[in-house]
Amino acid sequence: MTRRAGSGESEQAGDRPASERAGGLSRRLTRYGDDRFARFLRDAFLQANGLTEEALDRPVVGIASTASDFNPCHASAPPLIEAVGRGVTMAGGLPFVFPTISLHESFAYPSSMLLRNLMAMDTEEMLRALPVDAVVLVGGCDKTVPAQIMGAVSAGVPALMAVVGPMLAGHDQGERLGACTDCRRLWAAHRAGELDEARLRRAQGALMPTHGTCMVMGTASTMACLAEVLGFVLPGGSSIPAVHSERLRFGELTGRRIVEMARRQAPLPRALITPGALRNAVTVLQALGGSTNALIHLAAIAGRAGLELDLEEVDRIGRTTPVLVDLKPIGRAYMEDFHRAGSLPALLRRLRPALDLSVPAAGGGTLEEALDGWPDWVDDEIIRAPDNPVAPGEALAVLHGSLAPGGAVLKRAAASDDLLQHEGPALVFDGLEELAARIDDPDMQVTPDHVLILRNVGPIGGPGMPEAGSIPIPARLAKQGVKDMVRISDARMSGTAYGTVVLHVTPEAAVGGPLALVRDGDAVRLDVAGRRLDLLVEEDEIARRRAAHRPPATPARGYARLFAEHVLQADRGCDFDFLVGERES
Ligand code: FES
Repeated sequence: MTRRAGSGESEQAGDRPASERAGGLSRRLTRYGDDRFARFLRDAFLQANGLTEEALDRPVVGIASTASDFNPCHASAPPLIEAVGRGVTMAGGLPFVFPTISLHESFAYPSSMLLRNLMAMDTEEMLRALPVDAVVLVGGCDKTVPAQIMGAVSAGVPALMAVVGPMLAGHDQGERLGACTDCRRLWAAHRAGELDEARLRRAQGALMPTHGTCMVMGTASTMACLAEVLGFVLPGGSSIPAVHSERLRFGELTGRRIVEMARRQAPLPRALITPGALRNAVTVLQALGGSTNALIHLAAIAGRAGLELDLEEVDRIGRTTPVLVDLKPIGRAYMEDFHRAGSLPALLRRLRPALDLSVPAAGGGTLEEALDGWPDWVDDEIIRAPDNPVAPGEALAVLHGSLAPGGAVLKRAAASDDLLQHEGPALVFDGLEELAARIDDPDMQVTPDHVLILRNVGPIGGPGMPEAGSIPIPARLAKQGVKDMVRISDARMSGTAYGTVVLHVTPEAAVGGPLALVRDGDAVRLDVAGRRLDLLVEEDEIARRRAAHRPPATPARGYARLFAEHVLQADRGCDFDFLVGERES
């Protein structure tokens, strides 16, 4: 994780225009050419809202709300926001709730990832426009946490996150169930004819029994934990269930702490995103057995701070970091168990020798001080000791080779051991429409040895890199009991999914990456031990195919065009090229 040439250190207050340097409600006055009039007018509008002059002199804390009827994961945001506001008021601040875009995985066509950068821009621009001394970001569902952190880093406003927290696990017929690992497992069993419609429908009602984010170690849980590691969430706050009263007390504490940060104007988010903090985040990601999506989001967050996430280092850290947290999809338990087991600080204590303990913690002081103050107790079954891991290491492996010159990612700990070294003929799907049309064709010539290739689902081709990488096992094979096959794509997959699934192949097919040149029957070799992914086709044949390749047309207008023209590849976090690094104020 090295700093790019030309990027500077933390944003300095002196770099900003005078109207932005003033604190509280004098910050970022609307430009009429008369700042005193602008403040007079602003105060008049606030008095119209029932605020007295005494209230108007307090530090102003924005509370970014992502409550939305289209975001069931954030249904508990309103009482959490109220608790944050109460904490702000108790500490002498003035809370202002404001809305931003909200993204939910099941309510964003074609993919929430297409809109993550738009949400980050929304967050950044509102923080640049509003008179806030500091902000509490209320998010949780997969893309919301990285989008909010990206926006805050770029805006340069002191920020904490009040994540909404995970759902509790559900129960059906004596079985514990949870979103979305069990959604996928039950659906796969239904496709294979092992689960009837009635049981599937009953289980559907038990998969998400409370408000909150998916309660396995999927992307939402992973990003909440990483936000805590990076210093955006108060210690222990990432895993508190959404519906526990502790979540509201955490909200109140967050509100109180942010007022201190508003008064001190420190730390700025950029100061939290350091090489040491990113290494800590990657170490924790590997120990959690967390979501592959986190690598894309961490790369984007790093980019906003002028840093680059080094995928080779991600792989190196993975080789020496055991998976210690026994949560689905790799293990057995759910977030409420992780919270009861001691929460993230207990895991950080396990990882202590591998961490940079000098980085700031969200509650003030260093990470070392935060861990020293955390109770010793830990449930060894859920947060394992390094000598009794869930998996010995390599939760996430980074591959390179002739099929992925810019890299690809495999959740090794969720893959099948017998497929980690595999060579087989390619069976290519040119996009999601073709996949949907053919995957259940009873006449398809496919064997368990085939390597399923899905392309044109990357950042540009998707567009927005949908979570389609865990290609369903062809129905014909699923009904024969085949549970896993080698699957390769330029897509992402849900953090709740599992299997021998190679993702984020870079460069993607839509920009002419080698994935675009594979044909049915070509030999493909996956060599996880050697960290290789290769297309075994002669160079001159590849050159002939490349000459015939035609990229897709760019959308004619709007955000889709902006996205297609500026999105970076997966290894750079799929951010927009013009949002990386610092911006002039
Ligand atoms: Fe919102 Fe899973 S869909 S966290």
